[in-house]
Amino acid sequence: MTSTPKRALHHFSLSVNGSQYDVLAPPLMPLSEVLREKCGLRGLKHGCQQGGCGACSVQVDGQLVLACLLPVARAADKSIETIEGLADGEKLHPIQEAFVACYATQCGFCTAGMIMASKALLESNPAPSREEVLVALSGNACRCTGYLAIVEAVLAAAQAKSPELTKSSIAQKLTLKN
Ligand code: FES
Ligand code: FES
Repeated sequence: MTSTPKRALHHFSLSVNGSQYDVLAPPLMPLSEVLREKCGLRGLKHGCQQGGCGACSVQVDGQLVLACLLPVARAADKSIETIEGLADGEKLHPIQEAFVACYATQCGFCTAGMIMASKALLESNPAPSREEVLVALSGNACRCTGYLAIVEAVLAAAQAKSPELTKSSIAQKLTLKN
């Protein structure tokens, strides 16, 4: 009689949002699962788990990555950033503020991935056009918002100077545009 082989567990040291997490996991376990189930970082979501929805987006060494497709072994010893690392205490990241101000989130399932994809875009292209925002977010699915408010939020975040970005300043911009 044969028995089902157990998946061997390995020790990994992960650097996430500047903190160290020591975890035991099979080397091929998706980073998304490790972050959620072993590190307790549940901001990213398990969506399609096939690379098609963007809900699991994080940054690894500054690059936007679909964590459901990345084995944890390939993320070890790299710098991982998740949505939990964006706010500074009670102070939201400017992109998070923009999402709130522009009503760019409804159920919230896609929001962490959308914000991480937006952050990666604005880091490489601080002043994107509307089309560039659409292309950058084309791998992120949202079933609630119709995308318009999300695109407006990214453009508002790009236009605002980080320290001055407030709900009222964005609202004013949107009012002036409409
Ligand atoms: S859960 Fe990773 S792309 Fe959908
Ligand atoms: S806000 Fe619900 S999926 Fe985007």
